[in-house]
Amino acid sequence: MILPIYVYGEPVLRKLAHEVDVENTDWKPLVADMFETMYHAGGVGLAAPQIGKDIRLFVIDSEPFKESFPDVRIFKGAFINPVITEEWGEDFVFGEGCLSLPNLNEDVVRKSNIHIEYYDVDGQFHEEDFDGLVARVIQHEYDHLEGKVFVDHLSGIKKMVLKRALNDIATGKSRTSYKTVHPKK
Ligand code: NI
Repeated sequence: MILPIYVYGEPVLRKLAHEVDVENTDWKPLVADMFETMYHAGGVGLAAPQIGKDIRLFVIDSEPFKESFPDVRIFKGAFINPVITEEWGEDFVFGEGCLSLPNLNEDVVRKSNIHIEYYDVDGQFHEEDFDGLVARVIQHEYDHLEGKVFVDHLSGIKKMVLKRALNDIATGKSRTSYKTVHPKK
């Protein structure tokens, strides 16, 4: 089922998401809906707050990067109760977009490498290192669980320049090919 995407201005995107019960809940139906929603909207990642749920869960699929970045590691999966325990390496600049910030794309600086602990959709625990674009997508989605969005990483001047665009998103004026939920004016 394709779900509407909550956009900038919606309070759920600013909440600290809480951990879920991995053992006693079947997360497969929600994860399937999130993948379907993400593919429909043309994204490479989607976090639960973006569909209005303040829980620690996100999905990613780096496959669409392959066209522009042939060497990209293809990784598809769900991250449940993830914890990034370490970030290191070079400062890596990459133009980020977000389904909750439609029609924006801005350079964001992040560390190139991460170590993350998480449960997959089958309830299996993993701890793993990621780098490159997969690390980038994970860092971006992880921010959503912390109540952050990518524009929070930009300079004050850059944020001022984007103020109008952000206001348009929050008031539903930004055009999207997918259904959105936004605050009333
Ligand atoms: Ni995002």
